[in-house]
Amino acid sequence: MSAEKIKKAAVIGSGAMGHGIAELLALSGIEVTMVDINDEFLAKAMGKIKWSLDKFVEKKRIRREDADAAVQRIRATTSYEQAAKDIDFAMEAVPENMDLKRKVFTTLDSVAPPHAILASNTSTLSITEMGQATKRADRVAGMHFFNPPHSMALVEVIKGNDTSQETITTLVELSKKLGKTPIIVRKDVRGFIVNRVLGAVFNEAFWAFQRKEATKEEIDSSVKYTGGFPMGWFELADFVGLDIAYEVGIILYEAYGERFKPCAEVIEPLVKEKKFGQKTGVGFYDWTKGRPRIPFNLLDSYDVERSWAVAVNEAAWLIHDDAANPADIDTGMKLGTYWPSGPCEYADRTGLDVILNKLKELYGKYNIEMYKPCPVLEDYVSKGRVGKKAGRGFY
Ligand SMILES: NC(=O)c1ccc[n+]([C@@H]2O[C@H](COP(=O)([O-])OP(=O)(O)OC[C@H]3O[C@@H](n4cnc5c(N)ncnc54)[C@H](O)[C@@H]3O)[C@@H](O)[C@H]2O)c1
Repeated sequence: MSAEKIKKAAVIGSGAMGHGIAELLALSGIEVTMVDINDEFLAKAMGKIKWSLDKFVEKKRIRREDADAAVQRIRATTSYEQAAKDIDFAMEAVPENMDLKRKVFTTLDSVAPPHAILASNTSTLSITEMGQATKRADRVAGMHFFNPPHSMALVEVIKGNDTSQETITTLVELSKKLGKTPIIVRKDVRGFIVNRVLGAVFNEAFWAFQRKEATKEEIDSSVKYTGGFPMGWFELADFVGLDIAYEVGIILYEAYGERFKPCAEVIEPLVKEKKFGQKTGVGFYDWTKGRPRIPFNLLDSYDVERSWAVAVNEAAWLIHDDAANPADIDTGMKLGTYWPSGPCEYADRTGLDVILNKLKELYGKYNIEMYKPCPVLEDYVSKGRVGKKAGRGFY
């Protein structure tokens, strides 16, 4: 099915992500029905959509008549049957819980027409498992939007073990129709692309902090003002939510083992005290008076090359696992987290040999799996594929 054939959609779960995705679909001309567990949540979601569309009109990003037409295309119901009986596409955005998601997929499968594609917005869970809860696993895929969906340009399109190439092609086209930049995650790997690379740099920083090599302010100052990243790693973890960062950390550890050994001592006590970061007012930093001030004068206290080294190593593992290509990894990190450069292009500019030596130095010093060079990196360097200076690297 081509994306142009998607005329009707259902969005299951009208929370933070669901209502934003419904808004996007409606703006692109698709009739959408949102489903939630009660009318109150649905009314709230409709209110948020109208507010957001009004803002777009105010900022002259869309015309009033287009905003009104989008609102007219959105319905809301607590009935799956009513929402999905004649759809071409459904987007699942219920809370991150596999049992719940499996139930949603089984229900959707029983009410939606056979040709409809069912996608999940999960950040971490297995697309394959959700597909197996249906009789149409070839038409089940991941479509991971970033928060807030209306302003973040990136969508990770994820292939489950049984997802057909046709389904992926349709979702790539649909992402573009919604004004997004899709990247393809070719295998159902945990953390997909962005959270996996981010998980690696978070861990590196947490372990450095735990070993008292640098304070969080020193790390964040260096990452921000020397590295040119939009936020320091502790600041970003607070922004994402320490509960989420913690959970993702555990999922990555379960999936990849020692390479993602979480630094529990640093993050767990805060999570236990429900200090989740920005959303609760306190995390690593105090957010009660706004964004924390990261001191400028500490910008030389932590070697940002360490962050880059583990990011490049994880990018190499994604390539090793045949889960993604360098261009999609780079696009993902730039659009999903506003990194100044993607890890692969950074490595090509810096020299893969330089990155490899950094990893070897760190591995020798700390003997932690996180620093153990990925065989892909070793292989490229041994063949002289060391980046721009050699004419060939990741690119
Ligand atoms: N919030 C983010 O930053 C973000 C970013 C990317 C992906 N995600 C993923 O998107 C999904 C949704 O996250 P969210 O932040 O929007 O959650 P949320 O809690 O804001 O919204 C979930 C909604 O689902 C509804 N719901 C619960 N059970 C339901 C059911 N059985 N049927 C229909 N609706 C049901 C809830 O009432 C709620 O309105 C999760 O899988 C999450 O991992 C979240």
